[in-house]
Parts: sequence; structure tokens; C-alpha cells
Amino acid sequence: MSEDYLWFEGIAFPKRSYKPERIREVRDEFVMKDDDVVIVTYPKSGTNWLIEIVCLILSKGDPKWNQSVPTWERSPWIETVHAHKFIDNMKDPRLFSSHLPFQLFPKSIVGSKAKVIYLIRNPRDVIVSGYHFLNSEFFIEKPKSLQQYFECFIQGNVIYGSWFDHVHGWIPMREKGNFLMLSYEELSKDKRSTVEKICQFLEKKLEPEELDLVLKNSTFKAMEDNNRSNFSLLNETAFSSIPSIMRKGICGDWKNVLTVAQAEVFDKIFQEKMADLPRELFPWQ
Ligand code: A3P
Repeated sequence: MSEDYLWFEGIAFPKRSYKPERIREVRDEFVMKDDDVVIVTYPKSGTNWLIEIVCLILSKGDPKWNQSVPTWERSPWIETVHAHKFIDNMKDPRLFSSHLPFQLFPKSIVGSKAKVIYLIRNPRDVIVSGYHFLNSEFFIEKPKSLQQYFECFIQGNVIYGSWFDHVHGWIPMREKGNFLMLSYEELSKDKRSTVEKICQFLEKKLEPEELDLVLKNSTFKAMEDNNRSNFSLLNETAFSSIPSIMRKGICGDWKNVLTVAQAEVFDKIFQEKMADLPRELFPWQ
């Protein structure tokens, strides 16, 4: 990987938004409060979709907050260098996002009642989504080819490290009452029930019409049209520039992109690396 990355305890981060001292400080000193809510994902798993939904739940379906405040201020990524300027001004209860693997996440989560929602996605779709994202990215080196990115992904030589390790690190938390594990696939297949599950977990009781508003205001189209959610706002500042996070928003696009040989290799590796975990955790399998 190129000079655009910094390495912290064997995990790669884009240099532009991460510093080793911030990652260390977040892990060792960040104090989680019992009423915090954190959305944790491996990148390209539907993070922003879930943030949109949770913000709408907290607003009882009213899109005003989502339409006036950018995602990264509504739910700052704890580990980024820019996060503290938003976090310092946040009122309780706080909402955060994070892509950190469990071993780099704030240690204070252990013993805290903060609620964590961990969203997973078929890693084959994560590969395809990540490949397209990095390919239109211009502040870090583009992958040379899909095959090269595919190999790096399998080796964990990508931003935020190995998908397999990320999932293995977080899954033991599922025994705890303050941890909810969801999948992009169940959210796509039955959004209403999944949103109801999130409401129950967050102890937020919504009226049926409020729930309808959450569903309506978090569609792919609604997010694509909202410059506070689609990251286009960043491109209007000198501060950064990133491609749209809204691409296709479907399950199974990997079938159109990965070759038969890549799919076979991936199946084998998935079976080997995830054999110790119950199959039902992975609804796409
Ligand atoms: P694709 O690239 O497969 O389309 P993240 O937010 O973790 O970066 O994930 C990005 C992925 O979530 C992209 O997947 C994006 O299209 C998808 N996504 C974002 N909002 C969505 C929505 N409202 N409905 C479905 N998928 C959504």
C-alpha cells in the first residue's frame, strides 16, 4: 500500500483524516457514557444508511435534522482527526459512528451501558462497493485492478484491516444486552421490521405514522437528494473531496462484478475463516 496510508498496530488508515495519536487517545482515554449510541461497521457496509435511519428515529421521522446538519456532525466518526471539534459540542445523548476494529475501540466500552449497533454486509458486496469507491477517490491511490483489490481485501491489506478480523473482534459482544447486530441484507429485505428492531433496542417508541416517515426519509433516493447525507457538501469545501457514497444500494451486485474464479476463491476463504461462527449470523450465506 502507498504512502497515503498510516499504519497503526497493523491496521491501515488514510493519512488525510487519521493520526496515530488520535487513534491511541480514542482507544485509551475516550470515555463512553451510558446513554451514548454508537454505530459500528466495517467500511462500505451501509454505515451512512444506518446513521440516517437512527437520526430519523431520534427525530421521530422528522427529516429536519438530517436535512440541515451533515452526517459527520450528527454522528461523528470518533477516531477521525476532525471528530473532536464536533464531539466537544455534542449534547447528551450522543450519537457516534466508528469503523474501528474492537481492539482499537475505546476501552471504556467494557462495562459501559452505551448502546452499540454493529452492521454487517455480505463481504463480497463490501469488496465491490469498496473497489468502486476507491476507484473514484483521488486522495488515496486507486487500486490497480479489481483483482489486486480483491487480493488485498482477502489479506486484510485495505483500510481498517481485515473484514474477517473485524467481524471476529466484534461478534463476541452479541451476548450483551447493549449490543445489536444487524445486516445490510435484512435492512434491504424487510426495512420496516428492522427499523422496529432498532427502535426497540434504543427504547424509542414511535407512532405508526412516525415509523412511516423514518422509512420514507431514509430511502436511497431521499439520501441521494440530500446534500447533508450524500457527502457532496464536502466537495464544495476546500477541506476534502470524496466520491458519492450512494452508488447502487442493492444486495448481490458482486454477482455482476466478481469473476467465477474470484467467487470460488472467496467462498473457500470465507468457509475457512468463518467456520467457527454460526452460519445464521450471515444471512446472505
Ligand atoms: P453500494 O456501493 O453497493 O451501492 P457505507 O455507508 O458504509 O460507506 O456504505 C455504502 C454503501 O451503502 C453503498 O453501497 C451505498 O449505495 C449503500 N447505501 C447508502 N444508502 C443507502 C440506502 N438508503 N439504501 C440502500 N443502500 C444504501
